[in-house]
Amino acid sequence: MNKVDVIIVGSGIAGLQLAYELSKQLKVFIITKSRITNSNSYRAQGGIAAAVSIKDDPYLHFHDTIMAGEGHGEASAVLELVNEGKQVIKELIEAGAPFDFQADGELALGLEGAHSEARILHCGGDQTGKYLIEFFMKKLMLSPNITWIQEEMVIDLVLNKAGCCIGVKTKNQAGNCITYLAPHTVLATGGAGGLYPNTSNDSTIAGDGIALAYRAGAKITDLEFFQFHPTLLTINGKAIGLVSEAVRGAGAVLVNEHNERIMQHVHPLKDLAPRHIVAYELLNQLTAGNRVYLDITNVKDFTIRFPTISTMCLDHYIDLNAGKLPVSPGAHFMMGGIVIDKWGASSVQGLYAIGEVAASGVHGANRLASNSLLEGLVYGKRLGTYLLVNGMNRSGMDFTPVLPKRQALIQLPFTIQELQTSMLRSVGIIRNHNELATQLSWLESWGIDPFRQIESCDQPLIQTYYMWIVARLITESALLRTESRGGHIRSDFLDKDEHWLQKRIIHFQTNDRMEITYDQYSKTKSPA
Ligand code: SIN
Repeated sequence: MNKVDVIIVGSGIAGLQLAYELSKQLKVFIITKSRITNSNSYRAQGGIAAAVSIKDDPYLHFHDTIMAGEGHGEASAVLELVNEGKQVIKELIEAGAPFDFQADGELALGLEGAHSEARILHCGGDQTGKYLIEFFMKKLMLSPNITWIQEEMVIDLVLNKAGCCIGVKTKNQAGNCITYLAPHTVLATGGAGGLYPNTSNDSTIAGDGIALAYRAGAKITDLEFFQFHPTLLTINGKAIGLVSEAVRGAGAVLVNEHNERIMQHVHPLKDLAPRHIVAYELLNQLTAGNRVYLDITNVKDFTIRFPTISTMCLDHYIDLNAGKLPVSPGAHFMMGGIVIDKWGASSVQGLYAIGEVAASGVHGANRLASNSLLEGLVYGKRLGTYLLVNGMNRSGMDFTPVLPKRQALIQLPFTIQELQTSMLRSVGIIRNHNELATQLSWLESWGIDPFRQIESCDQPLIQTYYMWIVARLITESALLRTESRGGHIRSDFLDKDEHWLQKRIIHFQTNDRMEITYDQYSKTKSPA
């Protein structure tokens, strides 16, 4: 019987932390469209921010988070994140999580951009995500309550007559559809970096969770806020992988081909300025025809401290002794997502979202470095606590699936590559009305309806369709927000506009019609 207590879609840190909590009491399916280790979390080099040192204070972490988020977001959610974060780290250490320690027995804490204190925990140098995911996998593999379902793409959420989510429909590698039922379905599917040609994200991460939730009627918000990481190792215009901000935290600096430090006069924090400022300056240099390098000559023990980056460089014949890593910005993190409450519940009953796919309000308009693994851990744990108390209460729940009568999707007249290129051109770091309006018309010009029936389509077609849905929602939000705040710059609206302060653009659907509304985060609580 394909029925359990909780279905978790996605195998990143948020999903596995949740599964770890639930595994003591509830039956859980973890479904992933590729292998368990295909997640952004697994690739995370930079660590987890938490105010664990005696010199630090969660309030400082709170303040840095709000400042990076440029006044957007939910200050109370940030306060809870930094306080609960400290506790979650303590529990992980007690459970044996493999964090790096100094020789004197203290936690080794690194510095990253826009942090006022060294508060970044790492594992295995730059292998934080890999070590933590493997830590959770080892624990979960022992649990009889956990079933792993790999290489099945969730293609739709299953609803009952009352509009409650009662499970998921998947498609496996053989093209068969399978239905799994549960009173609680959790999307932990990560972000949408795959919408852009150059990204730090795992190749499987392309916004699926947003498309699934939107089609099921959930509210989606803050999609215009997309973070571009300044330093992806780049060879012949192609991004190879992330060069962690921790490398700059350890003393590396950005230089152009004339060996001039490009961040010297741009921001008081220089190379550790907020990400969008560094990314913007890099883009200016690249647009002016300069090459940009991360100069690592001042970083001691580079290969020991950054084994993943060192291997990536060696694999691409980059001479580490020369000390210059070619870099450019690329799509990294989606601040927006599925609207959730404090516990992770979406606006559709029975459907939850945690981690990057959720809009919890903690990242504001621009996420502070190393707050994403923290968010996954805190929200995974919190939802776990909630479901352990409320999870078995399913009395009277109707598990009869209702399938909306929709026309079938036949084909799409563009490729994923064309979609990615157009998103980079028009909805990248620098945007303006004309480009955004052109992109929206291009996306709309195909007359595609986002609510088609897709059961008979193959996986690549469904993937392209879902990417189109998310691209359309992002572009519309980006067009509507006529100000520059957070991870992007509107060249036609260069300043922040008071009218937009704390305002969120919300996408939702009623009776298969696309709708938009607005609401406010709590205006008074944000100090920035
Ligand atoms: C990095 O290591 O630079 C990325 C970490 C993050 O995005 O939080």
